[in-house]
Amino acid sequence: MSTDALITELGHAQALLVALAEDADPATFRSQYHPDLSPLGWHLGHCIYTECLWLHEKLRGDDSVTSPIADLYTPPRTPKPERGKRLPPQPALLAWATELQAFNLHYLRKLRPQWQQHTLLEDDYLIHFLIQHNSQHYETMLMILNQKALHEHGVPDTPHQPLQASVLQPELADIPAGHYRIGGQRPVACDNELPPQQADLGPFSISRTPVSNSEYLAFMEDGGYRRPELWDDEGWRWQQAHGITSPDHWRQENGGWYAVGMKGSYDLAEREPVSGLSHHEAQAFARWANARLPHEYQWEAACRIGLLEQTGRVWEWCSNPFHAYEGFTPFPYDEYSLPWLDGRHFSLRGGSLHTRPAIKRPSFRNFFLADKRHIFAGLRLVY
Ligand code: AVJ
Ligand code: FE
Repeated sequence: MSTDALITELGHAQALLVALAEDADPATFRSQYHPDLSPLGWHLGHCIYTECLWLHEKLRGDDSVTSPIADLYTPPRTPKPERGKRLPPQPALLAWATELQAFNLHYLRKLRPQWQQHTLLEDDYLIHFLIQHNSQHYETMLMILNQKALHEHGVPDTPHQPLQASVLQPELADIPAGHYRIGGQRPVACDNELPPQQADLGPFSISRTPVSNSEYLAFMEDGGYRRPELWDDEGWRWQQAHGITSPDHWRQENGGWYAVGMKGSYDLAEREPVSGLSHHEAQAFARWANARLPHEYQWEAACRIGLLEQTGRVWEWCSNPFHAYEGFTPFPYDEYSLPWLDGRHFSLRGGSLHTRPAIKRPSFRNFFLADKRHIFAGLRLVY
């Protein structure tokens, strides 16, 4: 993509953030709806802050925009519950945001030759990074709107067509043993996708499609949430402690299951990939199915050969913890990946319906703790 097209793309990614922040009523704009999620307005501010941090503070040493707001928008410096009350009024934040976004696009288009040489701009690296940063926060803002809908869903709805369970009969793709290329390429890749690796994989079979809603219901109806032998100790303790008996956004009325999303309640489609699952639940399902979750290298290898269908509808939990590739170097800053390479986060692949195309690629690695279920995640099976 040309630099011009990339700048236009950054403009789209900016506009999506503004649209969500603009549509919110003032209370929604600054409320926290989930312990892991910030207020909607904070994400917009954080994304502008991040653009200005790289384009103005790092590139040309001008911190006049960033230094007064650094405390609010640098995640470890303001805990999530504090963020809402520290945000400026919605109209002021929106006006400030749109002005700076336009300025940043203009600045990139008119970049003076002395800044063009900066290593951060080599091959448009920084523009790629900012598009992807905005896109990741856009998806998080949609998680917030989903959690708000769940929070506010009161009187149960009756589904038009209650979900029916179906027998698990996955169509499998067979992948031969071999040396597979894993990883991304500059300038698009994030630090954790590099350097490219060679993975030596034994033969395996992987389901062509993610596990569906009706297949997941079969697990539930077979006592999946009541059978400790299907869960590891941590997972069992977690679901017992929180009384978890279904995916995050599923609700039941008169024996029938339906779902709640940001546009209200809706029927669960039988063949649609199940989402709203934690790693614990994904793993219990896999054990129930006498299968395993894919290692992220298996997922990527199968994806590159073109054998995976319906990727990019749900994030797919992998079996392995998020880890550093051999030769990993943090960039553009330590905190992007380094703090999360703690052995407790698990890798996810693919992307959800809410993931922007800019981050949907075979090598992209998402990562969350095993108990997170607000992240539009499901699974696929390996035998
Ligand atoms: C990779 C999606 C877990 O949203 O916390 C955003 C991405 N890093 N800003 C997140 C990220 C810095 C990150 N995830
Ligand atoms: Fe961020």
